[in-house]
Amino acid sequence: MAFLVRGSISTVRLWSRSYASMSKKGLVLGVYSSEGKDEVKFTPYAQKYSESTAGKLLEQINICGPIKSGQTRIFWELGKFPAVAVAGLGDASKWDELDEIDGAKENVRIAAAAGVRALSANKIAEIVVEDMEHPQQAAEGATLANYKFQAFKSKDKQTPLPAVTFAEDASGKADWERGVIIAEAQNFARVLMETPANHMTPSIFADTVKQRLGAANVEVLVHDEAWAKEKKMGSFLSVTNGSNEPPRFLELTYRGSQDEQCVALVGKGITFDSGGISLKPSANMDQMRADMGGAANVVSTILALAQLKAPVHVKGFVPLCENMPSGTATKPGDVVYAMNGKSICVDNTDAEGRLILADALCYASTFNPKFILDIATLTGAIKVALGDCVSGVFSSNNKLWEAIHEAGSQTGDRVWRMPLFKHYSDQMCDHNGYDLNNLGKGKGGGSCTAAAFLREFVPKGTPWLHVDIAGVMGDCSDQSYTGSKGMSGRPMRTLVEFVTKAGGSA
Ligand code: BES
Ligand code: MN
Ligand code: ZN
Repeated sequence: MAFLVRGSISTVRLWSRSYASMSKKGLVLGVYSSEGKDEVKFTPYAQKYSESTAGKLLEQINICGPIKSGQTRIFWELGKFPAVAVAGLGDASKWDELDEIDGAKENVRIAAAAGVRALSANKIAEIVVEDMEHPQQAAEGATLANYKFQAFKSKDKQTPLPAVTFAEDASGKADWERGVIIAEAQNFARVLMETPANHMTPSIFADTVKQRLGAANVEVLVHDEAWAKEKKMGSFLSVTNGSNEPPRFLELTYRGSQDEQCVALVGKGITFDSGGISLKPSANMDQMRADMGGAANVVSTILALAQLKAPVHVKGFVPLCENMPSGTATKPGDVVYAMNGKSICVDNTDAEGRLILADALCYASTFNPKFILDIATLTGAIKVALGDCVSGVFSSNNKLWEAIHEAGSQTGDRVWRMPLFKHYSDQMCDHNGYDLNNLGKGKGGGSCTAAAFLREFVPKGTPWLHVDIAGVMGDCSDQSYTGSKGMSGRPMRTLVEFVTKAGGSA
């Protein structure tokens, strides 16, 4: 009998709660935990909120037990907010040094994301997040978690996303806003990558960028095929040969400083990679709609830098085309000429990324940049080597490597250094009838031979980094805030951090 009564009360409350939550606000608070200690340690903001409930929040948490990193509990009708999600911030000192991550910042991203997800699952339409003592990272976690690609779902079937804002009385609003700008730009990269290839052709990509970056005071030049012919970009043009979609080449400029020299960012923009005549197997070929992930990273990085008003002079170079088989497609064994006059034998038309980047690197070099960073979903081999949690970086310059490595630790989107040995260059360049082959001679090391190929198109004196992001392109299992499904937009936050630090005039 007693059981029945209790049951009916909770049923009534449950009903009124889900009904009410539709129009009500929720708050995300953080709480630290330390090994072996049950005592609750609130963030300063959460501490104040708990006091405003006359200690009831603390009491409730004590009843349900410690909240670990990444976990959340929702408390109803305690204090000003009808729903309060308390998210575990864990103990930053528990991060393994070898993980090379700023653990305090990463814990905040994880917690803010978990809090937003929990409230969102309870249909809370307005979510307010506290600063968690790291407002930028709280904004990043919250904004990256509050993302869902449903552009092609009927309007009435789409899940509405909650509005996420910063708590008015929390500290560090400017940092929160930085985090929102950066994470929204990453979400933009995710949309560009996720969008089906028939809705994200080279022309559509160019138009979308012109609209979005143009509005952010970035100069966007859209070059066409005739321009590429004039520039003698025979390597780039050999890839678009098989497609009916016209290619594009984007040239972006953001001048946030008076620096004469720019930082050059080059991104692979294959809007669909079928492999060409060296056709790919059909399983998972749809993933190759995201083979413009390098381009998406360049575009979203420059968008974020411009919106942040970063004091840097940056240019972006983005060759865009499809890689398709047809009667006009490049054939294995064909020889083409890149803009710098080097001849390339195309032994495998599926190694097309390096072909379009070759000309883009040559063109970027004509601007005498401070350094060049190229980024590309270049090789399946990098996924074999590093998995889905870290991007591979090849660099001719130790200082730049150190700077991007540090940037990755700060953002949680890490990078790992790979070799540029002469051995790999020999495998690409040591041939009788032409200068380079787009396929390595030896066995294995596919990411390294690809990097060695690109190196031939960067002038010797120009510091250079090449970032292979094929591993982190989609379905990454390491960052709960980005989610484990879909195209990731990674590692654009690391690029923003890196360019801001390494690209300034100081
Ligand atoms: N776009 C692919 C690389 C890729 C594979 C990206 C899987 C993301 C996920 C690239 O153009 C490619 O096809 N590379 C070949 C190179 C090979 C033919 C030398 C590869 O990795 O197999
Ligand atoms: Mn390919
Ligand atoms: Zn490709």
